[in-house]
Amino acid sequence: MITSLGAPGTRLNVQPGEAPATAPDGLLVDSYGRRHRDLRISLTDKCNLRCTYCMPEEGMEWLARSQQLTVDELVRIAAVAVDHGVTEIRLTGGEPLLHRDVVEITSRLASLPGAPEISMTTNGLRLNALAQPLRDAGLTRLNVSLDTLVPERYKELTRRDRFDAVLAGFDAADGAGFTGTKINTVLMRSINDDEAASLLRFALDRGYEQRFIEQMPLDAGHTWTRENMITADEIYAHLAGEFDLAPVPARGAAPAERWYVNGTEQTVGIIASVTRPFCGACDRIRLTSDGQLRNCLFARTESDVRALIRGGGSDADIAHALGVSIAAKLPGHGINDPGFIQPERGMSAIGG
Ligand code: 5AD
Ligand code: SF4
Repeated sequence: MITSLGAPGTRLNVQPGEAPATAPDGLLVDSYGRRHRDLRISLTDKCNLRCTYCMPEEGMEWLARSQQLTVDELVRIAAVAVDHGVTEIRLTGGEPLLHRDVVEITSRLASLPGAPEISMTTNGLRLNALAQPLRDAGLTRLNVSLDTLVPERYKELTRRDRFDAVLAGFDAADGAGFTGTKINTVLMRSINDDEAASLLRFALDRGYEQRFIEQMPLDAGHTWTRENMITADEIYAHLAGEFDLAPVPARGAAPAERWYVNGTEQTVGIIASVTRPFCGACDRIRLTSDGQLRNCLFARTESDVRALIRGGGSDADIAHALGVSIAAKLPGHGINDPGFIQPERGMSAIGG
């Protein structure tokens, strides 16, 4: 049974023992024909930075330990998703490297039957200690968030003086053998919008892919404005003034539009979530650290899988919850609709 579908902040829950809602072949296909292959798991809502566009300096309310999924619960839910067609799992946060069992989680997910690809989005601060163990555990790719190359600015933007730790993290990632590392950057007007070219040069130098993400209305403080968002077109114009860019074909479900840079194989990506939404090709579903399934970053409903499994739900019930969540997925995020309402949870609690 679906309870209270659609009202803001409500649940999309199933009860143990209900009939399955997945497609007959067991795959997670929504009512618009989008097949879901990508599961994003937020390991924690906590972070060791306080990026101004994400969290307030103080006053965040954190999830209690008892609310968080245990490692066994998390791996069990992921295993059911993989059994129903998920091929990639991305670990996010908050900051995923703050989860004390992150290495064990990685290794258990990587060795699930079906061998899903395990990647991670991180701020990089703890990579110095964890890059090698994570690589050994089966992590395949890293996205490191970095919005500036100016240490003073980093301190202002993140409210922490940790720029050197990120650099050490990049070195550790390279040393551990990670390839295809990406840098995620959110450009903001009059704050770091003069750094697009220097960030791309840094990424090219190190063999990474630089990606610029349009800022989305997902900050805990609800301060996003369209005027302050640096658009994909602005970023492209800026880069095209300094680099030779040739479009990379075949984008698939990937959110980034990509270009080859200066006639090389190296690429830059722009993620135009707001001005050119890519919801029509979305293959992502999200699990929060407190065990709530979300069918979209901007979803206004969640499905409580934690309650389901703590209430004795079976793997078939978990599959059913996945199916119900995906069946209710809307065609798009609606950011550009007049009636758009920002979800209650911010990015740090949902996972990027
Ligand atoms: N809009 C776009 N990207 C965001 N991130 C965090 N908040 C936002 C937002 N409101 C990025 C972080 C990180 C990833 C998890 O998402 O910079 O790279
Ligand atoms: Fe998918 Fe939602 Fe992102 Fe659109 S906004 S691409 S539907 S997760």
